[in-house]
Amino acid sequence: MFDLRELIQKVSQVKDKLELQNIKSQFLGKNSQINQEFKKLGSLNEKDRKIRASSLNNEKQKITEAINNKFKELENLEINQKLQKNKVDVTLPGRERPNGKIHPVSQVIDEISSIFSEIGFSVAEGPDVESEYNNFTALNTPEDHPARDMHDTFYLDKNKKILLRTHTSPVQIRTMLSGKAPFKIIVPGRTYRCDSDQTHAPMFHQLEGLHIDKDLTMGHLKGCLDYFVKEFFEVNKIKMRFRPSHFPFTEPSAEVDIGYRLENGRIIFGEGDKWLEILGCGMVHPNVLKNAKVDPKKFQGYAFGMGIDRLAMLKYGINDLRSFFEADFRWLNYFGFDPLDVPTNYRGLSR
Ligand code: PHE
Repeated sequence: MFDLRELIQKVSQVKDKLELQNIKSQFLGKNSQINQEFKKLGSLNEKDRKIRASSLNNEKQKITEAINNKFKELENLEINQKLQKNKVDVTLPGRERPNGKIHPVSQVIDEISSIFSEIGFSVAEGPDVESEYNNFTALNTPEDHPARDMHDTFYLDKNKKILLRTHTSPVQIRTMLSGKAPFKIIVPGRTYRCDSDQTHAPMFHQLEGLHIDKDLTMGHLKGCLDYFVKEFFEVNKIKMRFRPSHFPFTEPSAEVDIGYRLENGRIIFGEGDKWLEILGCGMVHPNVLKNAKVDPKKFQGYAFGMGIDRLAMLKYGINDLRSFFEADFRWLNYFGFDPLDVPTNYRGLSR
């Protein structure tokens, strides 16, 4: 017969519930010694049986109690350990803000997208590696056109059929060929020209706009750009001028300058008598619409292309375009934006 004290001693030393479960089935289960003893009761006479049964019951109760108490004890221990582990020290300082910053170009792209989405433009994209056809020919710029030389193109093959797009305008063609008029899109993206100085980089960013519908006029173009410039520079009054210009893919064409003045080396927008060119635009040439399978008798519209990096320089007072692409952490820390501060029209774009 087992020793009750020894058993209770054993139970008290158990460290986990599984072990305790094993002990329980060993000492109280079907094949346990105590059960065997109960079975033997039938062979005793009545008097002995009573005494034996009561002592066996007593023992069984003690074992059960010891085991159940141990279960409770182990459970409490577990809970306490969990509580200890998950304890929150409310006196600790808050977590550090992430170290990374949003690049001013990304910020400006978000700002511009937000402004144009307010008036119904959606965002389209195209590849950096383009065909010569989409970049020039389809945009009414035939092979012998002087505008091709002006673009200082990076060609990627000997036959000059594949190139790094020199502007975002080829996405006009891609968009119109892949859908049905009307169109109302903006296209932010990288563009490439073999050129580098304080205001030119071999890789830079443009934002194309294309709005094709019935009965669109130059007035719509002006209204749209007037709205954009005011929203972007966050001023109510803006001095803006449309200067006649030439692009093969628009007719008539214009370049847009905005007035500014300098005050202690800072640019003040919307006043003064200096002018800065920020974009090219015009009414989409009928040949471009034809090339893109849009009927120029039914549809017309305007397009514009702005230099994102230049807009960022103007708005945030950055005076050398090349610094955008140097990946200097100190520069980015100074001019970059908080990653959690996504610009929206409602909340304010740059604050
Ligand atoms: N693609 C022109 C450029 O890169 C800008 C432009 C776009 C002009 C659309 C008119 C219409 O200079």
